[in-house]
Order: sequence, then C-alpha cells, then structure tokens
Amino acid sequence: MTETKKFKAMIVSEKKDKFIRRIGERSIGDLPEGEVLINVKYSSLNYKDALSASGNKGVTRSYPHTPGIDAAGIVEESVNSDFKKGDEVIVTGFELGSNIPGGFGQYIRVPADWIVKLPAGLSLKEAMAYGTAGFTAGLSLAKLEEKGLTTEGGDILVTGATGGVGSLSVAVLNKAGYPVTASTGKIEREDFLKNIGAKKIIPRKEVDDTSNRALLPARWGGAIDSVGGNILTTVIKSTKLNCSVAACGLTQSPNITTTVYPFILRGVSLLGIDSAHCPMDIRRRIWNKLAAEWKPDNLNIIYSECSLYDLSEKIDLILKGQLTGRVVVNLDTE
Ligand SMILES: NC(=O)c1ccc[n+]([C@@H]2O[C@H](COP(=O)([O-])OP(=O)(O)OC[C@H]3O[C@@H](n4cnc5c(N)ncnc54)[C@H](OP(=O)(O)O)[C@@H]3O)[C@@H](O)[C@H]2O)c1
Repeated sequence: MTETKKFKAMIVSEKKDKFIRRIGERSIGDLPEGEVLINVKYSSLNYKDALSASGNKGVTRSYPHTPGIDAAGIVEESVNSDFKKGDEVIVTGFELGSNIPGGFGQYIRVPADWIVKLPAGLSLKEAMAYGTAGFTAGLSLAKLEEKGLTTEGGDILVTGATGGVGSLSVAVLNKAGYPVTASTGKIEREDFLKNIGAKKIIPRKEVDDTSNRALLPARWGGAIDSVGGNILTTVIKSTKLNCSVAACGLTQSPNITTTVYPFILRGVSLLGIDSAHCPMDIRRRIWNKLAAEWKPDNLNIIYSECSLYDLSEKIDLILKGQLTGRVVVNLDTE
C-alpha cells in the first residue's frame, strides 16, 4: 500500500500545556515501522485511553498522538509469514496507543508478536466489546483459578462493577459459574448489574472500611479489584482463608495500606494483573476462553457503539467515572 494513503484518526495535540483532541488525517507513512499493517474496524475505550487522550505523560510520552490501546481489524499487508492479507486479528496492550499510534485511527502498524488471530466464536466487534477490559477480566479469572478458586468457595467480589473491567468481570465470572457480588458507586445501575449476572449488589462504601482494623470479617472467596486504594485494602482484610484477590486497577487510588496479617494469618494472596505485557501463549488461551466457555450470553447489553466523532465526549465521561459498561468505537467513518 502506498505510504501516502490518508486515513482518519483522533489526534491529540499539546498546545501551551493544554491537550486538544480532533479527528484529522494521517498517512500510512506516519505509522512506525512494523511487520503488519492492519485496517482497524473497531477499537474500544479504556480508562488508560482517556488518560492518554488528556495528556497523561505517564501513559503517553509525546504528542501529537493517536490513542487506542485496543484494535480489531483486517490485515492489509504483512512481511511476517504468520499473517496474510485478509486475516481478522486483535491487538491489545504492549505499546499500542500509549507510545505508538493506536486503535483510534483507521490503520495501525505493529510487530507480528503483538497480534492474536480472531478466535472462532467472536466477531471483530465482540472482540472490542471485550478489549483490554475483558481481556483483563479473563486474565484475572485465570490467575484466581490457578490459585485454587472454585465455584464452591463462596461469594466473589467485583469492585468498580459498572466499569469496563468491572462489568466484564461480573459477566465472565457469572458465565463461568461463580456467585458474584458487585460493589458499585452507581447503585441506581442495579438492573444493569443484575442483568449481566451479579447475584448481590452492594454500595461501594460497604467495601471502603475506615476502622483501621487489621482484619475484618472474612467475606470473599475471591475478588477482582479494578479500583485500588482503600477499597483494595478493605478487600484484602475481608478475604477468606487461603483465598486470593486479583489487583488490576487504580481508579480510586494507586496506594494501599495494609499490615501483613491478612497474608500470614489468613494465607490471602494478592495477585498482580498486567494485561499489557501478558505472554502470547497465555494471551491466546484467554482469548479462546473469552470466545467460548466464558462468553456471556448477553455480551451485547454490556457495550454501546460510537463513531470516532462521538468519542471525545465518552472520554470525558470515563474520566469522571460516569460510564457504564463498555464503549466500542466503530472506525468505519467517512
Ligand atoms: N492491570 C491491567 O492490565 C489493567 C487493564 C485494564 C484496566 N486497568 C485499570 O483498571 C481500572 C479500571 O479501568 P476501566 O477501563 O474498567 O475503567 P472504567 O470503565 O472507568 O471503570 C472504573 C470504575 O471504577 C469505579 N470508580 C470510579 N471512580 C472511583 C473512585 N473514586 N473510587 C472507587 N471506585 C471508583 C466506577 O465503578 P462503580 O461506579 O460501579 O463503582 C467506574 O466505573 C483503571 O485503573 C485501569 O487503568 C488495568
């Protein structure tokens, strides 16, 4: 393909300490060197994208930049024999959308070892309904199961339950047969949480303990936490004997304060989740499960779709913690 071919993308630029988003044109030649050129059909919105789109230099070092840590599309050109023109593929994480142009543009060019072939059982759109959020939910469940999580071990807590990682954690855990308790700051979204599979719904403050006690009554047979801070601290103190907590986010705070008591008196395990650099063999295994036995029957109610032109307002909403579920970005924009 000619390097001068133009395509549409969100471009975030820095002007006098302000970050401005616009939909503009880029050329294939603007993309970094890479083995595989992909025509992006769908992307999705994650909290990290909103940070990149608003000038967070911890996520994106230099601007102008096109965010989008997720992309699903069709291979247009490949110099790697594992991929050929026409293959349907998924790319999530690595440096995509953080420090190289991402899925909020109609083309990306990436190394072949970042790419997963779309598994049977998923459409490109469904792959992006999951995106990094769903992949993180799946990776969390896989790690919890490796540590011995069973469907008989009691209630599994999901915090930040209406968010991207949260809602897909609820739905995937439920599909896998686990009894899920959803903690949320949006108690008015109870119906949504019930519909995606939460058996119990509790207000966020119930898992935000301020008593300073080293241990709290043991409640959870496991947990997926995407908010960090005092909520994660509380969850660790409330986890049952020899059970585990998957820590994957920081929307409340990156800081936790804990004693060693939950670890040495209850054998609690704190499992770190890093979806961006997950090795390819595990990555493929998780995507295959998300396409089959973990795929919620009603994945369609967890996401809404928007165009590149409507994306900026969704970015503002996710930054305020006001989005429910996932936003899939349709790149088929004139
Ligand atoms: N480790 C990884 O590989 C990985 C991958 C993906 C995401 N993440 C991280 O996971 C987190 C969630 O990402 P996301 O894309 O799911 O974001 P999201 O869609 O914005 O969801 C975050 C949810 O957290 C809750 N929340 C918001 N502000 C809060 C506060 N001040 N205190 C407590 N809860 C609050 C809200 O849910 P409720 O209103 O229902 O409580 C919100 O919907 C982010 O920190 C992101 O960076 C990490």
